Amino acid sequence: MKAVVQNRYGPPASVLAVKDLARPEPGPGQVLVRVRATSVNTPDWIAVTGVPYVLRLQSGLKAPADAVRGTDVAGIVAVIGEGVEDLRVGDEVFGSLWTSSLTTPGAFAEYAVAPAAQLAVKPAGIDFATAAAAVMSGITALCAVRDTAPVREGDRVLVNGASGGVGTFAVQLTVHYGAEVTGVCGPTGADLVRGLGARVVDYTAADFTAAPERYDLILDNVLNHRPSRTARALAPGGVLIPNSVGNSGGLTAGLGRMAGAKLLGLTGRADVRFSPCTVDRANLTAIGELLDTGAIKAVIDRAYTLDETPEAVAHMLGHHAKGNVVITIP
Ligand SMILES: NC(=O)c1ccc[n+]([C@@H]2O[C@H](COP(=O)([O-])OP(=O)(O)OC[C@H]3O[C@@H](n4cnc5c(N)ncnc54)[C@H](OP(=O)(O)O)[C@@H]3O)[C@@H](O)[C@H]2O)c1
Repeated sequence: MKAVVQNRYGPPASVLAVKDLARPEPGPGQVLVRVRATSVNTPDWIAVTGVPYVLRLQSGLKAPADAVRGTDVAGIVAVIGEGVEDLRVGDEVFGSLWTSSLTTPGAFAEYAVAPAAQLAVKPAGIDFATAAAAVMSGITALCAVRDTAPVREGDRVLVNGASGGVGTFAVQLTVHYGAEVTGVCGPTGADLVRGLGARVVDYTAADFTAAPERYDLILDNVLNHRPSRTARALAPGGVLIPNSVGNSGGLTAGLGRMAGAKLLGLTGRADVRFSPCTVDRANLTAIGELLDTGAIKAVIDRAYTLDETPEAVAHMLGHHAKGNVVITIP
């Protein structure tokens, strides 16, 4: 099978190459998926570049522990592993290959092994690219605004980084739950974010942390301001969800700001909540239904071919993607 292989850290164009690999075999509780679409997310570009450097402690000091990147997957079940009884060969599925390590997945390939519990049957009404786009970005947004800080009708919500993969899902979900949504993005994403139902603050023209508006929830996908500053824009009882490893590299990138946000919460100066991205069958089914009914859509910046994977990862690394970056395989 064709797969995008990485043997060292570095810029995507230098370290990613399409090669022929043997098809992986599913183990107990796993299935082999014929990949029809995958998407590029933060863990993928981190594992390609090895930056922020501190994360190499987990992913491998000199080179990534495993050579094929890519966590989100949509495709067709090709082989069933031992003990899997709720999926069948030929099922159209979507989900995640994610394990606790940054570098064990492998969806940038024609075939990938996934835990059956992290897959759900794809609704027939959505295509593979939409399904792949919705896994990490969509479920991160869903967990944040449905579970971590449940959004109610009339809540004032601010989404920083509203034009990105997570942001476009978060804006739509909060609009769907009846909130008044403000999306912070640059001028090139303003029409998109407005079209999703949000009032727009252009970060090149205004600083939301210095404005008089107050919010019941701030989902911060950028962390470009100190969390204590961002928290000033919270209404009494408001919640801040910090959700970014940061857009700059170095030793720790945005992890310092995440730690700052943790401290802010621990000192009781703001209600700071960290939100997981729990990819399980229940959450996949929930996001699939929202897409299938048209309540939300996946915003896809561009679909790349498998051969174009280095460009796709480089595009995500630029942090200016509008919505999600996907890779499709015929
Ligand atoms: N909790 C989890 O499990 C989880 C999972 C996935 C991702 N994440 C986090 O979620 C964050 C967002 O990821 P993403 O996939 O949506 O992609 P992303 O690449 O971080 O977002 C790109 C978008 O951010 C906008 N942006 C850049 N600088 C901005 C600024 N100063 N203010 C407002 N918007 C700005 C860009 O708009 P312009 O082009 O106009 O600048 C672009 O549309 C990441 O930082 C990641 O660490 C968390």
